[in-house]
Amino acid sequence: MKSLWLLLTLLSLLTVNALAQSSAFVPNYDEAKIGTYTLPDPLTMQDGTKVTTAPQWRKRRAELLQLFATHVYGHTPATKPVVRFEEKLRDAKSFGGLATRREITVHFTPKSDGPKMHLMLYVPNKKTGRVPAFIAMNYNGNHAVHSDPTITMSTAWMRENKDNGIVNNRATEKSRGVEARRWPIEMIVQRGYAVATFYYGDLFPDHKDGLPDSIIPHFTKAEDWNAIGAWAWGFSRVLDYLERDKNIDAKRVAIVGHSRHGKAALWAGAQDERFAMVVSNDSGESGAALARRNFGETVARINTSFPHWFNAKYKTYNDRVSELPIDQHELLALIAPRPLYVASAVEDQWADPHGEFLAAQAASPVYQMLGTDGLKAVEMPGIHQPVMSTIGYHIRAGGHDLTQYDWEQFLNFADRHFRRK
Ligand code: GCU
Repeated sequence: MKSLWLLLTLLSLLTVNALAQSSAFVPNYDEAKIGTYTLPDPLTMQDGTKVTTAPQWRKRRAELLQLFATHVYGHTPATKPVVRFEEKLRDAKSFGGLATRREITVHFTPKSDGPKMHLMLYVPNKKTGRVPAFIAMNYNGNHAVHSDPTITMSTAWMRENKDNGIVNNRATEKSRGVEARRWPIEMIVQRGYAVATFYYGDLFPDHKDGLPDSIIPHFTKAEDWNAIGAWAWGFSRVLDYLERDKNIDAKRVAIVGHSRHGKAALWAGAQDERFAMVVSNDSGESGAALARRNFGETVARINTSFPHWFNAKYKTYNDRVSELPIDQHELLALIAPRPLYVASAVEDQWADPHGEFLAAQAASPVYQMLGTDGLKAVEMPGIHQPVMSTIGYHIRAGGHDLTQYDWEQFLNFADRHFRRK
């Protein structure tokens, strides 16, 4: 009898354990269940000093950058790499002569077999002076953003996806143009902008064991710098190139990132003040969305699914988000007073559109203190009603994606802010 009882106890314990282990994460999608939270004030220094002037903001800015590096994204190596640019291809007849397409290998060390990224650049042929530019990373290699068969195919590691033509973790001919619907390059060029793109996996292959094959071991021994940081760094290396290009106005360069790329774009824009404009599209958790709002994806969830994106310290906040010394509105504030655009999609609840809007709103006091209008919206705007102040915002119909509608708003926003004075 006693042994039967023991057996039953053991069985029930095993069942409870198995259930606990398999229990799927259940995201909260109910505003009423978010609870209360207090955001840190971007305009108060850690020691309590209030920030009321631009010179004081410089100090607070440095403090916030350090806090984000220490607690979330890791420290970017301070030394600027000796970068070498090698132009591999130039085609002046792209889109029937509308643009010149170039491919440039960006070597991060003097060695030709060292770490590198492959940059593709479209510059409008019709122009009167230097043109503004957009930089955006791609998910499937440069050859995936357009079906043009002359684009060099990426040989880098990619996530297996037979439908997209990724076989044995490598791109095949079938993958040409698979991402094209997210890249209205012709429209962007027609509106007078250059477009630069690169495969994010050139910097850090996007899987949990990607670190040894990333650029990181070439620059730092610390295990603190991680994937989002490496991708962000890639944006800056593209700007290094654009600064030398006589066709481009390096003072009018915008970076755009969708989703995980949006997190990287925000971190790049926060750190590198050469970027004149930053666009976050559906960047969500650890991007534009407030971390303290328990809605959709959470800090614990993102750190579990994507342990290679952030630093080790960030994981210690999984169960104590309210103790983070920063929140994401302060990442947005680090872009001030430069134009910042935050885009959400109504069905992309995982990314917490309302939390993205609230973060943009909570960054606004910094923009205003620095003499701009910040975000001119008291309430979250309706669908397809873009707000175009120094901080721009829209929410569109549909799900997690980067669409023609999104790009049209980014172009309108850039036209507004980049207009020659
Ligand atoms: C996942 C992840 C998000 C991320 C997204 C993406 O959904 O949870 O944080 O933004 O992937 O990059 O598409």
